[in-house]
Amino acid sequence: MSSNNFELKNPESGLTTSLPVRSGTIGPAVLDISNLNRDHGVFSYDPAFAVTASCDSKITYIDGDAGVLLYRGYPVEQLAEKSSFMEVAYLLMYGDLPDATQLQEFSGSIGRHTMINESLLRFFNGFHHDAHPMAMVSAVVASMSAFYHDSTDIHNPRHREIFSHRIVAKLPTIAAAAHKHSLGQPFIYPRNDLDYCSNMLSMFFAVPCESYTVDPIAAKALDLLFILHADHEQNASTSTVRLAGSTGANPYAAISSGVAALWGPAHGGANEAVLAMLEQIGRVENIPKYLGMVKDKSSHFRLMGFGHRIYKNFDPRAKIIRDMCHQVLAKLGRNDNPLFELALKLEDIALKDEYFVSRKLYPNVDFYSGIIYSALGIPRSMYTVMFAIARTVGWVAHWLEMISDPNMRISRPRQLYTGPVRRDYVPAAQRKTLQEA
Ligand code: CMC
Repeated sequence: MSSNNFELKNPESGLTTSLPVRSGTIGPAVLDISNLNRDHGVFSYDPAFAVTASCDSKITYIDGDAGVLLYRGYPVEQLAEKSSFMEVAYLLMYGDLPDATQLQEFSGSIGRHTMINESLLRFFNGFHHDAHPMAMVSAVVASMSAFYHDSTDIHNPRHREIFSHRIVAKLPTIAAAAHKHSLGQPFIYPRNDLDYCSNMLSMFFAVPCESYTVDPIAAKALDLLFILHADHEQNASTSTVRLAGSTGANPYAAISSGVAALWGPAHGGANEAVLAMLEQIGRVENIPKYLGMVKDKSSHFRLMGFGHRIYKNFDPRAKIIRDMCHQVLAKLGRNDNPLFELALKLEDIALKDEYFVSRKLYPNVDFYSGIIYSALGIPRSMYTVMFAIARTVGWVAHWLEMISDPNMRISRPRQLYTGPVRRDYVPAAQRKTLQEA
């Protein structure tokens, strides 16, 4: 990493300010404005943090113009082809790919932490059967902060490690419990003889009265989707986890805030919204009508699963998932999937449309993932939960990176105040109503 300076000139005063420029290992350099207020009495203004780097990070790199995504330096395409979700989880959390022994120990530890406390299980009975699973999952994850008192010292590296294994291991169990609660079916306990994704499918689809065999095609597809969703640098939910965690909050509470942030349709909730949109569009002939609605801003209609704050090119994850749809649907004998056909046609038409071309709007990770979840029999309301299970690894990696940084401080953005200037309190009887004023 190198550094030099960037000169800013105030045209009114003629004064020149010198700001340090910091360069990472790859990617654009950043202006270090951390002393701007101390030295010059002003703050920077960047609503929605579109051009603000909030931290140093060694975890994930994105080049949005080139459509590149690297986890700890490894291209996501290579990891998708050759790796496994457990290996990627280790990579993100510990910084390097594990050797065979490390992988075995890590997977074994995750396997041993899959059960949740029986009291936590009873929490689900407090929810109505039609509660959205993301509401249940974020509430139950937050409730984990009331358990596990043996490992809450965030300054103790071993405690942090135990927390990280517990949350990664228990998220599928919590998700499956939410699913079973919605169905009114008995909860299925985890099976530690199965790998991460096979165990998740078993907890989802098994029933106590029958034996259940996990379809290896389904487990492999889920594993691949989890690799692709595992991390995405400082996205909204990860930044939320970092912000909540920066106060020294209980880490389960910090992860729960990430689940809540992920739920929104502009973020992870888009995968659920895409399928609803495709059903709403219904037929290829209706696509022009909906593209017309996109262009009419008063309609508030957006193509869900399209566009990205960073990618101004194909989201590499969307390409992989689109190819995966062809393979998985063929293997499962469901090639004639009308929603997939419609999605392909919609992508094709949108990518030739001037509105999308000029704004550089491409399909993102959420555009095709729901097609696969649906082929695996996962209900639509669970799609964002699937995203949350995978992204928990990224949240944990970022939380670990932040907490172990000796320079960590509470995150506290500033504002441009546009409210009333100072005024004095007037007793209610003497206040004029709005009409009189
Ligand atoms: N459909 C139609 N127009 C769009 C879309 C879309 N999906 N996305 C952006 N635009 C337009 C937007 O109206 C604006 O046009 P104009 O310049 O005329 O006002 C322009 O493109 C820039 O949009 P923006 O809202 O300023 O972009 P942003 O970086 O703030 O938002 C986004 C990024 C992902 C929230 C947005 O593209 C979006 O709402 N997409 C649909 C929801 C979605 O698929 N979200 C998943 C994101 S990827 C996975 C994840 O993060 O979880």
